[in-house]
Amino acid sequence: MTDNTKKSIHGEWSSRFAFILAATGSAVGLGNIWKFPYITGENGGGAFVLVYLLCVVLIGIPIMMAESMLGRRARQSPINAMQTLAEEAKADPNWHYLGWLGVVAGFLILSYYSVIAGWSIAYVFKAFIGSFSGGDAKDMQDLFAEFTGSPLSLTFWHTIFMVTTMSVVARGVQGGLEKSVRFLMPGLFVLLMLLVGYAMTTGSYQRGVDFLFVPDFSKITSNVVLTAMGHAFFTLSLGMGAIMAYGSYLPAGDSIAKTSLLIAGADTAVALLAGIAIFPLVFSNNLAVGSGPGLIFQTLPIAFGNMPGGWIVGILFFVMLVFAALTSAISLIEPAVAWLVENHGCNRKQACIWSGTLVWFLGLGTVFSFNSWANVKFFDKTIFQLLDYLTANLMLPIGGFCIAIFAGWIMSQANSESELELSNPVYYQVWQILVRYVSPAAVFLVFLHVVGVL
Ligand code: PHE
Repeated sequence: MTDNTKKSIHGEWSSRFAFILAATGSAVGLGNIWKFPYITGENGGGAFVLVYLLCVVLIGIPIMMAESMLGRRARQSPINAMQTLAEEAKADPNWHYLGWLGVVAGFLILSYYSVIAGWSIAYVFKAFIGSFSGGDAKDMQDLFAEFTGSPLSLTFWHTIFMVTTMSVVARGVQGGLEKSVRFLMPGLFVLLMLLVGYAMTTGSYQRGVDFLFVPDFSKITSNVVLTAMGHAFFTLSLGMGAIMAYGSYLPAGDSIAKTSLLIAGADTAVALLAGIAIFPLVFSNNLAVGSGPGLIFQTLPIAFGNMPGGWIVGILFFVMLVFAALTSAISLIEPAVAWLVENHGCNRKQACIWSGTLVWFLGLGTVFSFNSWANVKFFDKTIFQLLDYLTANLMLPIGGFCIAIFAGWIMSQANSESELELSNPVYYQVWQILVRYVSPAAVFLVFLHVVGVL
């Protein structure tokens, strides 16, 4: 049984529903609406989507259960959680470096995440002043190019987003988070459905849907598979401790399995809807599917500029995108903030100022990679691309691999079984097989393939 007397010093969710909301808020974000469509475009469509879906089911869901379980058992920030759990299992104390890996990954991800979230805030204002009205594909490409060409604007919006994030995080885990996600998720669904409705009128709906769902296996390379797997981790917020931190605020006795299934389901639904809304627009406007990170900012505004009621739909859409990004950003920094509070006697406010300032500085690298430093490349990648590759394709899968190994092999079976409290022993066995063999082996094989050993 979970120890009921053990509580996190940072507070607890008011219910399992609150945890579902917060974890869904973490999972659903720019990853679903901004990143999923553009990397699907860059990686050839259907086959990529198929691999991504397989990864969500076989790797993502079991690891999400493992991560929430570890957090809830330890009731501490990921770094301390791994230390405590390693002690409990009489394992190597070095396991707490897994927590550190996550904190670093969270900082690096947030540094560029905040810049893109800044674009979304800027687009709320562009929608409001009617910049999309009557515009065609060319207008929207120009608008985007002009905007991202300005380091000053990007820095400005990045700053606004970071300050907002840190002031929310400073207030603690329960405050606004539960409430905002409660409205956000249904709102996001409704707007995406509206956009799918518009996509049906473009004449390229079927082509868009086929691009997403009809796999062309000749497009699959080891890097496509790596990107799809990395994205499964990224979109579900796995491998860096966000879900572990949130799990540590989960009251005892709530079902981790059902929660994980719900979260993964909602997250996948949002991503697929976004894809279905966007690709018909890409084709009907003769845009390139591989246009990269600007894809949604160059396509959706065409819909907003030309559909009836598009002005208000555009505003609402970008407002929701900003909120979705905010609820994810909060979870990216929470492991670091919780650790600072636990180990350094900071209060949450100080912890936020320190970590937020650091992330803000790191974010400037991404800001400049879209303009002044666009030609500064390492391994043929801009700073933004490098950060994205390093975190989503390497750090999160490595973190997830270690979490699976710890939960499957290091933690005693009695403890994981009692913590997961699955209603049927067969479910536990299925989970155990996935977390012990399937997920780690899958991650390992993909890595071997990418470095060319296989
Ligand atoms: N899952 C978030 C998204 O899809 C991003 C994220 C990654 C959040 C890792 C927390 C941890 O936008």
